[in-house]
Amino acid sequence: MSTTFTIDTATSRANPTPAPMKRLTVPAIRKRKGGEPLVMLTAYTVRMAQLLDPQCDILLVGDSLGQVIYGLPSTLPVTLDMMCAHGAAVVRGSYHSVVVIDMPFGSYEASPQAAFASAARIMAETGAAAVKLEGGVAMAPTVAFLSERGVPVMGHVGLTPQAVNALGGYGARGRSEAEHAKILADARAIADAGAFAIVAEGILEPLARTITAEVACPVIGIGASAQCDGQVLVTEDMLGLFERTPRFVKTFEDMAGRISAAVETYARDVRSRTFPGVDQTYLPKD
Ligand code: KIV
Repeated sequence: MSTTFTIDTATSRANPTPAPMKRLTVPAIRKRKGGEPLVMLTAYTVRMAQLLDPQCDILLVGDSLGQVIYGLPSTLPVTLDMMCAHGAAVVRGSYHSVVVIDMPFGSYEASPQAAFASAARIMAETGAAAVKLEGGVAMAPTVAFLSERGVPVMGHVGLTPQAVNALGGYGARGRSEAEHAKILADARAIADAGAFAIVAEGILEPLARTITAEVACPVIGIGASAQCDGQVLVTEDMLGLFERTPRFVKTFEDMAGRISAAVETYARDVRSRTFPGVDQTYLPKD
């Protein structure tokens, strides 16, 4: 497994970063509570990390890579091997953002000790600064165990995709009073246990507002209204690469359309023998 955390500029296909900024730290993210909103996006590959990094505070190597990169039906089959390989690539492609890596399903739930072993592997193999795990009250002892041992933890409450089978789907959470109270208790529990930030996914605005007001750490929303301390989206969703996205996604670009148009032109040029042209052809020197 790779232990190289910096990019090899001799072999990289991209230009070296022109003016590297200092990498943000977990305490700096924590201090942003109530301040300028935190900007977070998912990244799974080195080139995407390079492109996103200058604008972002946090790059999340989400286990959503199961669906986005591997075409899996959910995040459940994602492995530690996958997270470590993609995590290391994103660390190599970034110099400014805090890189947070999702702990995959099955790698942390059994015990705080099991969670520590998985988190230690992720951090040692990728060079990332923090991990993210899903769950609330039940995961609070694990969040405390990791945080007290030098592993910064980002929590994730509300719609927790690894629990899709228990939740029965990907719909918004917190509609009933009981669910509202449970999600609030979850957020409080992991914040009190030492989480440095919490992702709140797919929850109603009043609940997002209450959680954000009540917990000490920044709350980063995804489908959780503008009331949070920051926002995160799956990058491929906001770039318009997929036909179907959740209601909370705003597509900022039509990348699928642009790629299709470019490939159509390429195919036409190949078939008409207009590509490759003289500029792309090695000719004998005179
Ligand atoms: O896996 C992921 O990409 C996530 C975000 C959607 C928050 O957890």
